[in-house]
This record gives sequence, C-alpha cells and structure tokens, in this order.
Amino acid sequence: MDAQPPRGTRDFPPDAWRLRDWLFSRFRRTTEAFGYELYDAPVLERRDWFTRKAGEEIVEQLYTLEDKSGRELALRPELTPQLARLVLGMGRSMPVPLRWGAIGQCWRYERATRGRKREHYQWNLDLLGVDGVEAEAELIAAMVHCMRSMGLGPEDVVLRVNSRRLLGARLAAAGVGAAQFEPVCVLVDKLGKVPREALLEQLGGLGLDEQTARCALAAAGDEGALDGPAPEGEGDDAREGRASLDRLFERLDDYGVAEWAAYDPKVVRGLSYYTGTVWEAFDRKGELRAVAGGGRYDRLLSVYGGKDVPAAGFGFGDVVIVELLEERGLLPDTTRQIDEYVAPFGEDGLAAATRLATALRGDPFEDGTPRRVELQIEPGGMKKALKLAARAGARRAWLLTPSELANGQVLRKDLETGEQTTTPLDELLQARAR
Ligand code: HAM
Repeated sequence: MDAQPPRGTRDFPPDAWRLRDWLFSRFRRTTEAFGYELYDAPVLERRDWFTRKAGEEIVEQLYTLEDKSGRELALRPELTPQLARLVLGMGRSMPVPLRWGAIGQCWRYERATRGRKREHYQWNLDLLGVDGVEAEAELIAAMVHCMRSMGLGPEDVVLRVNSRRLLGARLAAAGVGAAQFEPVCVLVDKLGKVPREALLEQLGGLGLDEQTARCALAAAGDEGALDGPAPEGEGDDAREGRASLDRLFERLDDYGVAEWAAYDPKVVRGLSYYTGTVWEAFDRKGELRAVAGGGRYDRLLSVYGGKDVPAAGFGFGDVVIVELLEERGLLPDTTRQIDEYVAPFGEDGLAAATRLATALRGDPFEDGTPRRVELQIEPGGMKKALKLAARAGARRAWLLTPSELANGQVLRKDLETGEQTTTPLDELLQARAR
C-alpha cells in the first residue's frame, strides 16, 4: 500500500499538528481581538451553493460527488457561500452588524504546486451589514494584526488594494457591458499568469471585439495592452470608486496599518461575487502565491434568492503563510513539551504513580492552565524513566524509586536545571487533591 496521503493533501502527525494549532491560535486570537464570533458549517455541501456561471477556476476545481440517494454534493472550496446560507437562514433575525469568523478546511482540485494544495485550511473574517469602507478598513487591520502577531512586518508583506467599482467604471468606459462585468473580471484577474494573446482570445469568446478587449486589459493595469492611455472611466461610479479608496487609506492610517497597503489596479480577484474593494496580501519579494485575499461582496445573497446585505470579508490560508514564516525564520518552536512525567519503578510503584499523576492533573497552574502530565504505565528503571521524560519534553520528572517510596517519599527532578528534591507522597496527594 502507498503510505502517502492523496496527492495535494496533507497528514498532520504531531509535529505538524502543533504548528497548525499554533497558527490557528493566532487566527483565533485576532478573531477575538476584533470582536468576531466563530462559526463553522459542514465540509460537505449541496453542490448548487458553489456553482456559478462566470467561468471561475474555483467552480471548475470543485470536488463533486453523489451520495447514495443521488444527492449532488461538493466538498466546499471556500466558506463564503456557506456563510451566505447561514445568514439567509437567519432572515430578519440576523444581527447587524454581524461579525463572524471561521477556520475551516476547503477543497479545490488545483494543480498542486508551491503554495497551492488540494486541501487547505482557511481562516475567514466577514463583516455584514456595513456598507462603508470602514468595514474593509477593519478587516484589513485585523489581517495585519494577525500577521504582526506572527512576527511579520510591512517589510515582509504588502496588501495590494483595488476597487472593482473603479474597475467597473473603466470597463464601462471601454465598452464592456454590465452583464459582462463578472466574467470579464474573472478573465482579467489572470493577467500576468496567462499570456496577453490568450486572454484577448478568451475575452473575444465573451463577445468583446479586439479593441474593447485590449481596453479591458489596460483598464486592469496591463500597460502594454494599448498604444495610448487606458480608458479612465467617467461618472459617479469612477468618482465614488476613487473617493472610497482614498477614504479607505485614511482609515487604514487611523489603524496604524497604512504602510502595509498599496493601491494596485492589477488586483482584480478571481471570484465573481466581489463588487467593491478587493485586496490581496503578498510577500514583499513577490516570490510566493497570495497569502490571503478578500473584498466586498454586496450582491451575494440575491444570487441565492435572498435580500442583499452589504458584506465584506477575507480568506487567509494556512499554506503560504507557513512558507513565508519559514523563509523569515519566524516559525515557532513546536517541539513536544509536557509539564510532569511520572515514573514508577516496578509494579509496586504503579499504584502510587497513578495517584500522583491523577492528583497533578487535578491541580492546574495558578493561571488555570491545566498541567500536562504523562504517566509511565510500564514501570522500568531510572535510565528508561529519564529517556522517556526527555523524549516527552517534560519540565519535571517525578521518580518513584523503591528506596524513596519505602519512606513515603517521591523524588522530583527539575529537568531544566537538574535540581532534585524529595517530598512526602501523602503531602503531594493531599495538597494536589484540593
Ligand atoms: P481566495 O482568494 O480564493 O478567497 O482564497 C483565500 C486564501 O485561501 C488564499 O489567499 C490562499 O491563502 C488560500 N488558498 C486558496 N486556495 C488555496 C489552495 N488551493 N491551497 C492553499 N491555499 C489556498 C476566498 O476563498 C474567499 N472566499 C475569501 C473571502 C471571504 N472573501 C470574502 N470573504
């Protein structure tokens, strides 16, 4: 049998699990620091929640299956449609504003390359019910807060920000109709990843003549697509788009994160539902795939037959961030660690050792953190006890040697300093059993 997990997926043996847990704890802390509540939904979902018609990669990459009753299901590729489902289910009782966060596993049939897997965990924060850029500013500040908590700075990461509203005005000035907006966004997002000629052909497939297609690419920041300047975009939408970006940067300054962010017309995002601000976080050197991305999506609920609610949010994966932290030497020490290792010597000591381990487990540290206690259930000698205690990363070993135990004493060895003390077992059991 092949001992590897399926291509593009990962096992999490204890070392990897500890790192993941550390990362998730950073996600959770920021979620709480900004007053967001955590939620989750099943990884398995009804397929039609994810199928959209704009030609997005995420839909093409869907893992689909039929259950034994013929239901058409899919593994979720992202969390946003499920958030929409939950919000729709609340109806009028949805609290406004709603601040929700999630850390969930997502599945996409991607070409497994550096930074992209077929399964990843994604931390999401979403803010619903606020239509001003104050929402985006808070979300971007939260993203930065989390990156800072991992030791990253603005010299490591840049958040590239754009406005689809401004892009929409430019596309309209270039002759792109409103009905083509979503599929055109999905295509121009591929600028830099797909050759220009191939994109022009695909835009032609949407019914754009060559000049319009070139204008569309130029409007999204492809400077070489046209001989002349890109169409600027006129009217209220363009003005509003520009003004909202200005306001957003002012708000980012209030949060003290402006130096992390930069305007970039090339950031369009490959998901069709974004309607306003969009942003994506990249390593400054530009060597890795996107670390995180998000945007405003004010019209998603009506896609599912509900009443629209202003909404913005982001997804932050667990793959690229680890690559970046590793490169910067910022990964935490995740070697195994426990507090107490309790070792009996011979069958006679096992009963006393069990009582001691139980008492220690019932005696948390002063700040309430539970003590991590490993009991050696197969008694042995000193060599075995110390070897296993070191392997467990124990801070202290409780050594129930026959000579000490005969006097009702336990030997306690501090494995960091080597210091040894003896204490009456009874005292320990009574004190700890409080
Ligand atoms: P997304 O840009 O498709 O957005 O994904 C967000 C992040 O998830 C990416 O920046 C990346 O960190 C991670 N990610 C995505 N696909 C993979 C993959 N195959 N392997 C590893 N990491 C991956 C969304 O999913 C939106 N639903 C985010 C959002 C929430 N927008 C509003 N609210």
